[in-house]
Amino acid sequence: MMPSAKLKAMAKGRMSELMIRVRAGGLTPEGYQALAHAVGWERRTEAQARDLIINARHSVSAWQSDDEKVLIGMGRATGIGTQYAHLADIAVLPGFQGAGVGTAIIGHLLALVDRETHIDATVTLHAAPGTDAFYGRFGFQSSGTPGLMTRNRAD
Ligand SMILES: CC(C)(COP(=O)(O)OP(=O)(O)OC[C@H]1O[C@@H](n2cnc3c(N)ncnc32)[C@H](O)[C@@H]1OP(=O)(O)O)[C@@H](O)C(=O)NCCC(=O)NCCS
Repeated sequence: MMPSAKLKAMAKGRMSELMIRVRAGGLTPEGYQALAHAVGWERRTEAQARDLIINARHSVSAWQSDDEKVLIGMGRATGIGTQYAHLADIAVLPGFQGAGVGTAIIGHLLALVDRETHIDATVTLHAAPGTDAFYGRFGFQSSGTPGLMTRNRAD
């Protein structure tokens, strides 16, 4: 398993430096539900959230500190073949946004995905309105379908 990443971050409005832990796994249905609610996504039952986690090839969790008491971010990778993969459910708790947590989550997911896919594989995600620039930093480009972005490392 890939080691966890420690991230020194300064969240907006916070004076103190954060020591954030980002690692593979660790996502629970309750944690998924809480984060989804916090960022305003449609409600999912605990059973639905569990299915999303179980069916993901990879999930990544971000924590406020090593004790893993406060979940502050998540992301999943699904549908992984050698030629394709899809990233989904990337969210950071509002109070921790803008501190580099989302960047660390995507970096962790892409490192996991890139190990299993060919260099010319297409990685997709559905970008929430206004997040194209954020995903563009990782090589994703807008496709013909609104919100659908694709990333091909060979491009
Ligand atoms: C989108 C999201 C995951 C980004 O996570 P984050 O931890 O805030 O991102 P980071 O702090 O790593 O941001 C890195 C950079 O992208 C920018 N950025 C972050 N979110 C952005 C957005 N929605 N639009 C434009 N730029 C954005 C940040 O300003 C930052 O720029 P900087 O380095 O110049 O300061 C997070 O804001 C979030 O959870 N939003 C609500 C849920 C959502 O929309 N998820 C995406 C579903 S596709």
